[in-house]
Amino acid sequence: MKMARLTALVLCLFASHSCYGFNGDNFELECPDECDCHYFRINWVTDCSESNLTVVPYDELSLSVYVLDLNGNNITSLQPFPSDIKMRRLQIANNRLTRVERDAFRGLEYLIDVDLSSNNISYVDPEAFLDSHGLLNVELQDNPLDVVEGPFLVSGTLQFLDISNCHISTINHQFFENVTSLTTLDLSNNPLRALESGVFDTLTSLETLKLNDCKLSTVPENLFSALVNLKNLELAGNYLMNSNWPEVLGTLTRLEYLNLRKSGLVSLSEDTFSNCTNLVTLILAENELRDMDVAATLGNSVNHLELLDLSNCKIQGPIAGDAFANSSRLKSLYLSGNPLFAPDLEEALAPLPKLERLFLSNCGLRNLPDSFNVFENLLELDISHNPLVNVFTKLLAPLEKIEYLNMGYSNLSYVGPDTFAHMSSLKRLVLSGNDLLSLEAGLFGNLTQLTTLELEFCGLKRPLNANAFFKNLTYTDLREIRLGGNPLVIPSAGPLFPKQLSQMTVLDLGNCNITSLNPDSFKNTENLTELNLAGNQLKSGDGSLAFLEILQQLEKINLSNNNLTTIDPEFFVNNPKLHSINLIGNPFICDCKIAEMWDWANMIKGDLDVLTGAKSAEKDIVVKGNKKKKNLYCRYNEAQLRNMTLTSTKSVPGRRPFVKPRELTYANRTWAKYVRESGCEPVVKILRPVALIADLFHKTNSDFAPSAAFIMAIIALAFGITTVIMTFRLLRKKQFISEINTESHRKQR
Ligand SMILES: *[C@@H]1O[C@H](CO)[C@@H](O)[C@H](O)[C@H]1NC(C)=O
Ligand SMILES: *[C@@H]1O[C@H](CO)[C@@H](O)[C@H](O)[C@H]1NC(C)=O
Ligand SMILES: *[C@@H]1O[C@H](CO)[C@@H](O)[C@H](O)[C@H]1NC(C)=O
Ligand SMILES: *[C@@H]1O[C@H](CO)[C@@H](O)[C@H](O)[C@H]1NC(C)=O
Ligand SMILES: *[C@@H]1O[C@H](CO)[C@@H](O)[C@H](O)[C@H]1NC(C)=O
Ligand SMILES: *[C@@H]1O[C@H](CO)[C@@H](O)[C@H](O)[C@H]1NC(C)=O
Ligand SMILES: *[C@@H]1O[C@H](CO)[C@@H](O)[C@H](O)[C@H]1NC(C)=O
Ligand SMILES: *[C@@H]1O[C@H](CO)[C@@H](O)[C@H](O)[C@H]1NC(C)=O
Ligand SMILES: *[C@@H]1O[C@H](CO)[C@@H](O)[C@H](O)[C@H]1NC(C)=O
Ligand SMILES: *[C@@H]1O[C@H](CO)[C@@H](O)[C@H](O)[C@H]1NC(C)=O
Ligand SMILES: *[C@@H]1O[C@H](CO)[C@@H](O)[C@H](O)[C@H]1NC(C)=O
Ligand SMILES: *[C@@H]1O[C@H](CO)[C@@H](O)[C@H](O)[C@H]1NC(C)=O
Repeated sequence: MKMARLTALVLCLFASHSCYGFNGDNFELECPDECDCHYFRINWVTDCSESNLTVVPYDELSLSVYVLDLNGNNITSLQPFPSDIKMRRLQIANNRLTRVERDAFRGLEYLIDVDLSSNNISYVDPEAFLDSHGLLNVELQDNPLDVVEGPFLVSGTLQFLDISNCHISTINHQFFENVTSLTTLDLSNNPLRALESGVFDTLTSLETLKLNDCKLSTVPENLFSALVNLKNLELAGNYLMNSNWPEVLGTLTRLEYLNLRKSGLVSLSEDTFSNCTNLVTLILAENELRDMDVAATLGNSVNHLELLDLSNCKIQGPIAGDAFANSSRLKSLYLSGNPLFAPDLEEALAPLPKLERLFLSNCGLRNLPDSFNVFENLLELDISHNPLVNVFTKLLAPLEKIEYLNMGYSNLSYVGPDTFAHMSSLKRLVLSGNDLLSLEAGLFGNLTQLTTLELEFCGLKRPLNANAFFKNLTYTDLREIRLGGNPLVIPSAGPLFPKQLSQMTVLDLGNCNITSLNPDSFKNTENLTELNLAGNQLKSGDGSLAFLEILQQLEKINLSNNNLTTIDPEFFVNNPKLHSINLIGNPFICDCKIAEMWDWANMIKGDLDVLTGAKSAEKDIVVKGNKKKKNLYCRYNEAQLRNMTLTSTKSVPGRRPFVKPRELTYANRTWAKYVRESGCEPVVKILRPVALIADLFHKTNSDFAPSAAFIMAIIALAFGITTVIMTFRLLRKKQFISEINTESHRKQR
């Protein structure tokens, strides 16, 4: 695939010298004025999302369009597409369509995937997709569909159908008669109230069925009897106290996942699941099962059950002593949200020595069972959101094998220095949401296997006290530290973290009230790869991003929702590995620096996706729709706005010009639109990343003579080492591609 793109590019280079523009737009194929177009792999993507369109720009579309994204416009009706169009995916969610007519989809032989969700559609012609012989996926959720008589759709290939939240109140016996290949059906959030036996009988391929929140009061005994391949069944949020469960579930021998959350259940008989021998996950949360005999209900046949969720089931102490006597196979048990007392719990859990994961969040526990030593195998324990009394934390001490411990939001103001002394296997520790104004000396000292430490919203003013760790150790596994939501006071000089934490690679400092960071902030943690600074108040200018300079390994940075008004690729010149920058939600002013960032991402980094929100990313052309928006904005100031009609007609080499005249009346622009209309000259200043150059392409790049022959030679070389390239990471390859491009554009001018 990637090689194909490279080949295409190379051919393009020779053919036209300008098929890949500075906008990230490839304008070798047709592209409507209001849209952004590019290749994704070898597929032509036409992105017209959120462009205030009221009609589909039919006559400007390329016949080779692979993905047409019209999400978030004001389109009210569809006309026929040009015949011979090869469109595979049509996304037209969040518009104002009212009908899906046969005519609009006539001749769309290649259509695989159509997203019509969140419109105002009341009618769908059952034969609308008759010409689409490869149709796999139809999304129609969030539309006010009228009552359907007869078949809903006719398609022999359709596998995924989402008609959730569509005001469907009845399903007739022919509704699914002509979509027999369906594997996944979502009918959730429709006021069905009742379903008649037989309505699903044609869906013998169905593997996933969602009927959540359908106001169902009962399920007929043989409703699912034909669904022999069903693996996942969701019936949450209904009122199913009167169903004959042994009969309803009796034929579902392949069932692996059953969700009956909040379904009005009060008891379940002993043989309920006796035929569901493959059941792995059973969710019974939010039902009033206070007296349920879990042991009897699960019986002996549910051999594969690993996860049982009984959260919020009003199981009030005393919990039956033998409740779990028979479920010794369980690995994960959720009892969160039930008001429990430590002594009862101790008794009830005694028969479960094999338990690996126990969730006791929000159980009103003031103290803890003092028998944690029975859980020899316990790997994960969640006791968050309990009003724990400080001293009881010492009862956790016997959990020597534990790997994940969540004590978040538990009213702790102090954690005894020995609490974690023997948890030498602990990998992830969560203490977030406790007012830990200070941390005891040596508290984390023995946690030598720790990989993740979460201390969010702990009222911490100082990042992390060196005293909490042993001075004589380097915590080589400690890679991730989360400190979001602490009102940190950043020192005006010197590093934020002690040397013991030098192996840290992921750091979250989101929402920490940070207004500036000194250039040495990360001096002891220079190998960071991921840094989250979202939701702070970082400003542009005055070297405010100078702390980036030492972060040579940085791959990902989140600067969203700060107070940046301008940004410059120069800031990132020392971060050659950077491949993801989130700048959404900053008050950027539209100026040529924005265009520079854009060109840098597109040409130097070789991928606009480096800028989160720059385009509506088609990360993968997969079956399910992708509604990621372009949400990187900048604003014109008043003077610029008055001048705009002048500049927008200016034609800049390398940027796709507008065909029709434009009227600009509002200041808020997406970066994509701004860059095109700005008239900013592409800056082909080669900000060569320092480190990457060192490897494969070092020799070829260092004295790149601008002659066609030389480019030829390099291309030949590139083909020669195809197999080597194929094994290289995307980043490096894209950089190579972009440099060929950059070179050709420079030559051109
Ligand atoms: C659609 O049009 C209405 C008025 O006709 C307008 O209020 C609304 O902002 C438009 N929406 C979009 C996404 O352009
Ligand atoms: C659509 O147009 C209206 C006015 O014509 C404007 O207020 C609005 O911001 C535009 N929306 C977008 C997404 O361009
Ligand atoms: C949806 O369509 C109906 C007519 O079918 C119309 O009355 C209603 O105003 C439309 N709603 C919106 C939000 O456009
Ligand atoms: C729909 O399915 C029914 C039953 O299999 C069949 O009789 C009918 O011809 C099908 N309709 C279409 C349009 O294919
Ligand atoms: C459960 O399975 C057995 C044996 O496969 C079968 O005879 C019985 O009818 C099934 N129960 C129900 C309620 O379908
Ligand atoms: C750390 O663990 C070792 C071995 O388990 C133990 O001997 C030592 O007392 C612990 N240190 C502290 C400070 O608890
Ligand atoms: C490091 O220091 C602590 C006390 O500060 C001590 O318990 C521990 O044994 C020391 N570890 C090593 C490896 O020297
Ligand atoms: C955030 O920082 C400012 C000064 O930079 C300070 O006045 C304010 O109290 C801080 N907010 C919190 C919640 O600590
Ligand atoms: C960062 O990584 C490099 C190479 O792996 C290593 O030499 C250096 O010591 C590391 N820095 C720190 C502070 O550990
Ligand atoms: C953002 O910066 C501007 C000036 O650059 C300042 O007036 C404003 O108060 C700042 N906003 C916040 C939330 O810090
Ligand atoms: C507006 O356009 C005029 C004429 O092209 C130019 O002289 C002036 O600098 C522009 N003003 C701004 C703020 O761009
Ligand atoms: C610009 O408009 C978008 C929606 O059209 C909105 O989400 C965003 O907050 C606006 N930005 C500014 C700075 O007004």
